[in-house]
Amino acid sequence: MRKKIIAGNWKMNKTPSEAAELAAAIVKNSAGAGCDVVVCPTAVCLPGVVEKTSGSNVEVGAQNVHFMESGAYTGELAANMLTDIGVKYVIIGHSERRQYFGETDETVNLRTKAALSGGLLPIVCVGESLTERENGVTSETVCRQVKLAFLGIDKADAEKVVIAYEPVWAIGTGKTATAEQADEVCGIIRGTIGSLYGEDAAEKIRIQYGGSMNAGNAAELLSKPNIDGGLIGGASLKADDFDVIVKAAEQN
Ligand code: PGA
Repeated sequence: MRKKIIAGNWKMNKTPSEAAELAAAIVKNSAGAGCDVVVCPTAVCLPGVVEKTSGSNVEVGAQNVHFMESGAYTGELAANMLTDIGVKYVIIGHSERRQYFGETDETVNLRTKAALSGGLLPIVCVGESLTERENGVTSETVCRQVKLAFLGIDKADAEKVVIAYEPVWAIGTGKTATAEQADEVCGIIRGTIGSLYGEDAAEKIRIQYGGSMNAGNAAELLSKPNIDGGLIGGASLKADDFDVIVKAAEQN
């Protein structure tokens, strides 16, 4: 039985003081939650959010990590800088990074390996664009993204990764994939992990859905057999909405 994982991707929102306030409200709401709860603020907010969540069941994730250990990479953050302050997870390959910041399947793979060897738990994002869905290449697209993201990663490490299936057309648009569509693609992703690492790894790995998941639709999405959680953008910025999603994960 896979433990569900609800992660809030705060994107480029909240100042450090606002982030600390939101984190405190989430800690209060999530006490004793029956699923894993993660919040991913901007880098500058990480220390304050780690402080607010310390001693609670809420874990903290970063929104990106560089693939080198140190050196002349202006503006970047290495895995050990994040673990040193108490960060546990990191989002890798979010579609916004792929779209606006030149992230490729190759850099997603490098970052995933760097995160794992640095002791972070990666949340690796994959998902098709609207054109890819309309052209009938959804399955092919996400399979390629998964295979390339996991290149050179052994089974023990692979099982630690969380995969977030986020159809690009559903992110921040208010258009959610239907629970059936989301479950189908999460199942295809699970099958890809099975072909790479075997059935037991496929049964262990956690696959989230992301893309306009909210307080109203979370329960249905989270009731599907292949959906083990959510990566939530907009709705994670409101403590009460996020709490409804956490509660839905506990019950489904
Ligand atoms: P959204 O974002 O919930 O605002 O659609 C999800 C994400 O980008 O992770």
